[in-house]
Order: sequence, then C-alpha cells, then structure tokens
Amino acid sequence: MWYTTSTMINKKKLLIANWKMNVTSQKEAEGLFLSIRNVITRLNHTHMICCPPHIYLNQVAEHVNSNNYTVGAQDAYAEESGSRTGETSVLMIKNAEVGHVILGHSERRHLETKLDVARKVSAVLEHGMKPIICIGEEQRDKNWKKEIQQQLKDVFDRVSKKEPENIIIAYEPIWAISGDKKSPATSVQYNESIAVIKEELKKIFRTQKAVEEMKFVYGGSLDDKNIEDFLKNTDTDGFLVGRVSHDPRILMSMFRLIETHVENEEEL
Ligand code: PGA
Repeated sequence: MWYTTSTMINKKKLLIANWKMNVTSQKEAEGLFLSIRNVITRLNHTHMICCPPHIYLNQVAEHVNSNNYTVGAQDAYAEESGSRTGETSVLMIKNAEVGHVILGHSERRHLETKLDVARKVSAVLEHGMKPIICIGEEQRDKNWKKEIQQQLKDVFDRVSKKEPENIIIAYEPIWAISGDKKSPATSVQYNESIAVIKEELKKIFRTQKAVEEMKFVYGGSLDDKNIEDFLKNTDTDGFLVGRVSHDPRILMSMFRLIETHVENEEEL
C-alpha cells in the first residue's frame, strides 16, 4: 500500500471526488483514474480522495503511486461479515485499503435510518478509517438551522467522542446537490452554516478543541466556475464534488485554482 500519513494530508486542501454511480466499467474507471493521476501527482497543495463505486475500489487502489491521493468509499455496511445480501462490509472496505468513507449522503438517506448512519460512522472509526459525514438542510427555509443541528445530534449522540481529528464534516445543502440547473451555496451561506455546525459540535463534544481538530468541506454543484468564491471567502479545508468528479478537464482546472490560491496566500 502507498503510505500516506494524516500529517501529509492535514496541510493540504482536500478534493473528494465522489464518482457516485457514474462510472460503469473497469476500463472506464481505470482510464479516468489514470488521466487524473498524471496531474495530481504534480500538485503541492491538494490531496484528492478518489471515491469510486465499491466494485472498482481494488482496481483504483492498485494504481495509487503518490501521497497526493488516497482511495475513499461511498458507503460501508456497519458489520464486518454475515448474511447481508448485496452489502459491502466495513471490513471489506478497510481491506481494500480505503482511508475515508462518505456517510450520510443525502442520496442514501432514504435507504437508511439515522441509526444506520450513526452505526456506520462508529464502525468506520473503529476500523481506523475516517468518516466524511454529509450534513445539510433540504431547503434554506426558516428551519435550516434546526435541521442541521438535529442531523449532527442524530449522528454524534451515538458515536464515541474520542477521535475528532479523524472526522470530516461535509456541508452539503441538499438543495444545491447535483444538477445542471442547480447552483451551489454561496460562500456567505457556507460560512453561516459552518458556524452553526461548529457551535453544535462544540456543545456535543463539550470542547472547542475537538471542533478545531475536525475538518470541514463544502459540497454541492461545485465546479471550476464557482470554487474561487469558496477559496477566497471561506477557510474551508476542501471540497466534495460529484457531477464534475469524472470530468478530468474540469478537475484539472479546479486543481489549478486551488494550487494558485494556496501559493498566493503563502506569498502574503
Ligand atoms: P454535485 O454532488 O457536485 O454533483 O452537486 C456533490 C455530492 O453529492 O457529493
């Protein structure tokens, strides 16, 4: 396995590429990964977490040859093994050399209960991987704050509070996710939402330090046209992309924008 420590990742902006169900053959998965790999190996400030469908995890993991990226999964069943037709267990995911697992994605929440999501987060942490926990309101209406506060309680009331440094929160407002006609949240909305999320996490974990150790990323209709708003106007730790995650041209352009932004910041 190509060895990537948390310290290596910590200093970089994350770009989590959620391929969803949009890559449909081994050949396509390999071609896509190799075309992105050529660029990502040359980056200095970006770490990509590539999340293919489970069936292509091993194949993508075999091609990892740099500290600039790791393999993530789009889900993991909370138990290690057993009579669960069609599921992929947390142990199988771990054994596929996966470092991160996306959990609680809005596209899966109708398939699973709140308790399932919490169990999965616990199982992923117990198996030494990092959950990327998706949190976001359905609509930006008068209830949005309560909705995301409740989602956080539903997960963390049932999860050990011992390793905040291994937790990534993806703020993904459901109204902004996936679609040509949808638009992303603005940096102002992201900052407002992250403030609410951090405040709630501080209450749940009973310490500000825990919140400081977590990472926070944005997801929802991001592309190379709108990422700069987030780079310039937020202190986000990174991005979760779906629609553009299998478009090497747009990804390259996003990588370039991230790299240039960080370099400019360093010069100041
Ligand atoms: P999107 O998806 O970039 O297509 O909006 C993000 C996500 O669902 O993770």
